[in-house]
Amino acid sequence: MSFVITTPLYYVNDKPHLGSIYTTLICDSIARFKRLSGDHVIFITGVDEHGLKIQRTANDKKVEPQSYCDGISNIFLQNWKNWDITYNKYIRTSSQIHESIVNEFYNRVKKSNDIYMGVQKGWYCVGCEEFKENPDNSSSRKCPIHQKNLEWKNEENLFFRLSKYQSQIEDLIKQPGFIEPIERRNEIISFVSKGLKDFSISRTNVSWGISVPDTQSHTFYVWFDALLGYVSALSLDMKNPSLKDSNTNGWPVDIHLIGKDILRFHAVYWPAMLMSAEMMLPKKVFGHGFLTREGQKMGKSLGNVLDPNLLLSKYGRDAVRWYLLKDISLGSDGDFQNKRFVDIINNDLANTIGNLLNRTSSMSRKWFNNRVPNNEMLNDDNTLEIFSNKAVENYINYFNLFEIDSAANVILNLAINTNLYLNEKQPWILIKNEKNINLVSNIIYNVLESTRIIGLLLLPILPELSKKIDFQLGSLYNDKISWKKQLDWGKLKHKSLLPVPSPIIEKLEYD
Ligand code: MSP
Repeated sequence: MSFVITTPLYYVNDKPHLGSIYTTLICDSIARFKRLSGDHVIFITGVDEHGLKIQRTANDKKVEPQSYCDGISNIFLQNWKNWDITYNKYIRTSSQIHESIVNEFYNRVKKSNDIYMGVQKGWYCVGCEEFKENPDNSSSRKCPIHQKNLEWKNEENLFFRLSKYQSQIEDLIKQPGFIEPIERRNEIISFVSKGLKDFSISRTNVSWGISVPDTQSHTFYVWFDALLGYVSALSLDMKNPSLKDSNTNGWPVDIHLIGKDILRFHAVYWPAMLMSAEMMLPKKVFGHGFLTREGQKMGKSLGNVLDPNLLLSKYGRDAVRWYLLKDISLGSDGDFQNKRFVDIINNDLANTIGNLLNRTSSMSRKWFNNRVPNNEMLNDDNTLEIFSNKAVENYINYFNLFEIDSAANVILNLAINTNLYLNEKQPWILIKNEKNINLVSNIIYNVLESTRIIGLLLLPILPELSKKIDFQLGSLYNDKISWKKQLDWGKLKHKSLLPVPSPIIEKLEYD
């Protein structure tokens, strides 16, 4: 099966911050899970380079927009490398391929009689690149997200006939699973029920954009341009990209994963544009919550961002991944707190999972000649086998529903139960009596086997830690064999050598 997933195409007004890394890490984890499950995955990311916000940023820095964008785009690419993001397509909206897709799309929409010239008046947030419906009437009209003054605009623009698609959009957004989570779906249903208004898709005062083919003094509105990046990303390897090839290239996407701030664009404007161009619609739009710091959205414009590179160099990829993926439920907001971060990494990864592996491997080496015990003798204690099989089943179900935090908690619970099992069985006491050797051998085998499954389940979430666990168990993972098959209980080889244990994760100190 093929599976196509996208991150938003990030604005290049600044380098990536933890918010953009958050969305990308979630997509990366889902993409890894789907690949391991045997799907052919196309994971799309990229940058959104046009528009007033970028034009102004480049002007302020006194550089040409294109060379400014080149610089930031390279920083994004470097970041995705540093974070080991397994994307397959990286699209830049300033690319030639993208421009030709936008032009072709515009011609289709025009042919559907969905474009007309009109006058756009209203309050605009340059940070959101969006007109605000009803800004409060106070003298300081500010964008609630960016806390910056809105700007009054009154100009001739081309409009897209969004209103024509009212009933089709109503039907679409009511389809179960199209918008998730449910609260976001309800917000959009309520927004659409108020009546869709046509929106302007061109600008006359923005030179940094794609020129509208037949209206040369206009450039495309940045959102009309950027959303098409998802389609042009699929044509990246083609000499003559064309919309008619998009279906064979992977369109429509299975899931657009975005922050809740840009849900309307993805769940309403974008599907209507696609309907107008007679293209297939994305299967799902998932609007996740914000990362906050002291309750405020973390954002470039607000200046309260955490430097992801600092976190990366201080704690490493997997610690940050665990915190963001396990501690924040996808869809809810999550506050980044330093103390909680340290506590979670130490408790979950170092104590619960790391110590379990370390002490069991040490016991096994000590009592069974540096090896996994031979438990070919009757092992009728299936407590952990039952736990593990249930955990695998739950984990896969949660991941398929994009409930990554629940999937991560399943792993943690398996580790907690395995620790409990070990503590109850007390093999260190049993071993004192030689006649218990088969019993001890079974107990240790069961715990090591459960740890192997824990390591495998961690692969999409914490790829590095997973590999370290595998190494400590004698490098059993084989990427030529189906990952799901390797999750079957009992695959740990009897009598295989165990390397000298070393901690898989260092404990963190408070600042
Ligand atoms: N360029 C548009 C998207 C166009 S998609 C065709 C854009 N870019 S952005 O750089 O502002 O990125 C927005 C996305 O970054 C959010 O939707 C979200 O995925 C992510 N985040 C930005 N700040 C965030 C937080 N504070 N918390 C979580 N995610 C955040 O909008």
